Amino acid sequence: MEERSHFLLSITFLLVLQYTSLYMAKLTQGTVGAAQINITTDQSALLALKSHITSDPHNILVNWSTTTSVCNWVGITCGARHLRVASLNLSYMGFTGTIPPHLGNLSFLVALSFNNNSFHGTLPYELSYLHRLKLVSFGYNNFVGSIPSWFGAFPKLQGFYLYGNQFSGSIPTTIFNLSTLRVIVLSGNQLSGGIPREIGNLTMLNEIYLDHNNFNEIPQEIGFLHQLEKLYIEFNALKGHVPMVVFNMSSLTTLTLYGNSLSGGLPDNICQHHPSLEKVNLGDNQFAGPLPSKLWQCTKLLNLSLVENNFSGSIPKTIGNLTMLKGIYLDSNNFNGIFVALPCLDVIQLYII
Ligand SMILES: *[C@@H]1O[C@H](CO)[C@@H](O)[C@H](O)[C@H]1NC(C)=O
Ligand SMILES: *[C@@H]1O[C@H](CO)[C@@H](O)[C@H](O)[C@H]1NC(C)=O
Ligand SMILES: *[C@@H]1O[C@H](CO)[C@@H](O)[C@H](O)[C@H]1NC(C)=O
Ligand SMILES: *[C@@H]1O[C@H](CO)[C@@H](O)[C@H](O)[C@H]1NC(C)=O
Ligand SMILES: *[C@@H]1O[C@H](CO)[C@@H](O)[C@H](O)[C@H]1NC(C)=O
Ligand SMILES: *[C@@H]1O[C@H](CO)[C@@H](O)[C@H](O)[C@H]1NC(C)=O
Ligand SMILES: *[C@@H]1O[C@H](CO)[C@@H](O)[C@H](O)[C@H]1NC(C)=O
Ligand SMILES: *[C@@H]1O[C@H](CO)[C@@H](O)[C@H](O)[C@H]1NC(C)=O
Ligand SMILES: *[C@@H]1O[C@H](CO)[C@@H](O)[C@H](O)[C@H]1NC(C)=O
Ligand SMILES: *[C@@H]1O[C@H](CO)[C@@H](O)[C@H](O)[C@H]1NC(C)=O
Ligand SMILES: *[C@@H]1O[C@H](CO)[C@@H](O)[C@H](O)[C@H]1NC(C)=O
Repeated sequence: MEERSHFLLSITFLLVLQYTSLYMAKLTQGTVGAAQINITTDQSALLALKSHITSDPHNILVNWSTTTSVCNWVGITCGARHLRVASLNLSYMGFTGTIPPHLGNLSFLVALSFNNNSFHGTLPYELSYLHRLKLVSFGYNNFVGSIPSWFGAFPKLQGFYLYGNQFSGSIPTTIFNLSTLRVIVLSGNQLSGGIPREIGNLTMLNEIYLDHNNFNEIPQEIGFLHQLEKLYIEFNALKGHVPMVVFNMSSLTTLTLYGNSLSGGLPDNICQHHPSLEKVNLGDNQFAGPLPSKLWQCTKLLNLSLVENNFSGSIPKTIGNLTMLKGIYLDSNNFNGIFVALPCLDVIQLYII
């Protein structure tokens, strides 16, 4: 008898336990359900974007109809695994409009491209929730203001393109938290100040485009970027000497500093440290001194422009064994002597005045 009541008690206890856990499960499910983020969330985020687009000259957004899944909408690609929006590419669609905060709900977004439209205003903070982003591309739009500091919040970002807008002020140093970044393109804005020294933290960088801005200083730390292949800083307000480390980055293939106020000379051994140099444009600056005597060691050189500087001395004959050279531009300098014809027949453009 005692045993039986004990047994019943156990059963009751078990049932209570089971009921409780069921109840708990239901409760948890309910909580998740209320805040559930799914493809429907993506749809409402995109419809919010659609309602913020005030001009659609090619009637592209007629296609964004709720009669079909967002995964079939023009400009949208969904991920195969989660069936959530993974890529939003509205480049070259002629849109005018602003970016609503709702885009921050596209939590599976990996690539965001809005190039060559007329989006304007500022970028909403909610975009910083998109932790999966690898590509952010807002080139050729009309965004204004400073580059938001929350751009430091993308742990996987590889490509960052803000060219051709009206961003102003200095680059926020939080950007240099993006340790996975490979390409940064801020060309054609009104950015100013020194290029932050924290750029030296982005050791994965392969390409930097900062041309057509008002930057005034290249930091020494750029020399830490051992994978940097392309450095474009033409048409800025750079002045003083280029840090010697720039002439010492063995991975560089392209160096473009045209149209600044840089001075100083080129190190004679530049090619010893720069075996891969292909394109060098130092034109329209105040560089002076002789050409490096061992320029012929830059065997991969394709295009060299030193126009409108104050280089002097003679042009070394050995320049003639740069057989890859396609163009060499040395006019408006202070070279002496008459230039001897280049033995290498590959040179198709040669300007020395
Ligand atoms: C998405 O979640 C909502 C609740 O937030 C739900 O009503 C809807 O059915 C879900 N949609 C899909 C496609 O799972
Ligand atoms: C939108 O365009 C895509 C491809 O361009 C097409 O597959 C889809 O059916 C279109 N949807 C609507 C609603 O027109
Ligand atoms: C976005 O679309 C444009 C035009 O269709 C295309 O050239 C570009 O490669 C696309 N970008 C991405 C990241 O898919
Ligand atoms: C999406 O984002 C907007 C604005 O940031 C917000 O109001 C909305 O509640 C969010 N959630 C869903 C599920 O749409
Ligand atoms: C993109 O915009 C820029 C600036 O407006 C323009 O020069 C360029 O031709 C455009 N490209 C395309 C493919 O529309
Ligand atoms: C910098 O990155 C870390 C890790 O990805 C992140 O936790 C932190 O919030 C980021 N800081 C800023 C200022 O974005
Ligand atoms: C850059 O790296 C230094 C250490 O080298 C670290 O102290 C600093 O916080 C980093 N800056 C950013 C913006 O991540
Ligand atoms: C250039 O690199 C060489 C070897 O890689 C090193 O010895 C030299 O100190 C460097 N010079 C500068 C100015 O960084
Ligand atoms: C250019 O260099 C020469 C000497 O090589 C010097 O006399 C002249 O003042 C310099 N010109 C400028 C504009 O710096
Ligand atoms: C280039 O010219 C120099 C001097 O004449 C010579 O020592 C060197 O071997 C040449 N290099 C090549 C790759 O032909
Ligand atoms: C060399 O580069 C300059 C500007 O950097 C360009 O104008 C010129 O067309 C290029 N020459 C060749 C042969 O590619």
